[in-house]
Amino acid sequence: MRKQKEDSRIDPRVKRKLSYWYGFLIIFWVLMALAVAQAFIYNSYVGIDHMPLFYVLSMVGFWAIVTLVIISIIFYQKKYYFDKPMKAMSQAAKTVAEGDFSVCIEPYHKPEKYDYIDVMFEDFNKMVEELGSIQTLKNDIVGNVSHEMKTPLSVIQSYATALQKADLSPVYAQDYIDTIVEASKKLDSLITNVLQLNKLENQEIILDIEKLDFSRQLAEAILKHELLIEEKNLKLDIDLEENVFIASNSGMLDIVWNNILSNAIKFTDPNGKITITQTSDAKKVYVQISDTGCGMSQRTLSNLFDKFYQGDPSRASEGNGLGMALVLRVVNLLKGSITVESTLGRGTKMKVELPRG
Ligand SMILES: Nc1ncnc2c1ncn2[C@@H]1O[C@H](COP(=O)(O)OP(=O)(O)O)[C@@H](O)[C@H]1O
Ligand SMILES: [Mg+2]
Repeated sequence: MRKQKEDSRIDPRVKRKLSYWYGFLIIFWVLMALAVAQAFIYNSYVGIDHMPLFYVLSMVGFWAIVTLVIISIIFYQKKYYFDKPMKAMSQAAKTVAEGDFSVCIEPYHKPEKYDYIDVMFEDFNKMVEELGSIQTLKNDIVGNVSHEMKTPLSVIQSYATALQKADLSPVYAQDYIDTIVEASKKLDSLITNVLQLNKLENQEIILDIEKLDFSRQLAEAILKHELLIEEKNLKLDIDLEENVFIASNSGMLDIVWNNILSNAIKFTDPNGKITITQTSDAKKVYVQISDTGCGMSQRTLSNLFDKFYQGDPSRASEGNGLGMALVLRVVNLLKGSITVESTLGRGTKMKVELPRG
């Protein structure tokens, strides 16, 4: 972190400054009034016959010196304990506002002698550090999204250009159209995922909670993947209960099942097996989805829920690395939990627990 350099110039926006002489006059008149009051009190008890002019003048001079000492102490204190730290703070805040998150204000005292200003500096530094990491994350996401969008877009562009050729054979044309449709589907899924994630992270979502037939909802989600399962000749073993009702949101549950299932299908080689079991008790429902696919390394497991993380670069084109990030956020939103066990080369088991209401 970069330490904030001190700038001796006065910020042009600062219009009000405590005037030294104004302060002097106020304190002087207060002290003079007190001295006169003291003379009156003295006079009423002891009596003052005569007060030489020289004595009066030297008293005025004495109080003027006392005032000078007091005002100097006040100004020194204000300058070093208030103005200086406030100026450092204002300059640092200005630097952050300009987009530089590397500033750090050095506290004035050692930790064992911290005052509130030092504590404020330390909290400010922490806040800037946090803001900086959020900003980096945001930039990463913008970079990742743009990168992910560029690939299908350039596919669409080049194949559409090829389609414009007059002498293109219909066989090739059909091929090109299929590729364009695939690429636009990928783009659509990327944008949907990014929007859903953004909504989940940045807005207070008020869910429409309804009583729903949980096992039926899960069965319907599985059914939507039937074609893909058949295409890969995967064996599907399902064991679901019947008439299990829970209070939840079916749209959100769809996100969870679709992502876990599509991963299980995608990462399992042809002729593999996917097993789905659903059980329940009075308080919760439990779903276990396991596959005999490629499994995950320790590294993939620990980054599984990170946005844009994809474990296997050779399959990166088949997804966007947002699926599991979405699953975790949705499961949290539904006050459930997800656990993952996976062995490289053997398969993966994901367990989702959700409250019944
Ligand atoms: N069932 C699974 N078997 C093996 N690896 C998986 C499985 N599910 C997820 N992964 C790994 O986790 C990564 C992140 O998953 P996900 O967020 O859904 O992204 P995507 O599917 O778009 O690659 C995947 O790229 C993959 O490496
Ligand atoms: Mg996925």
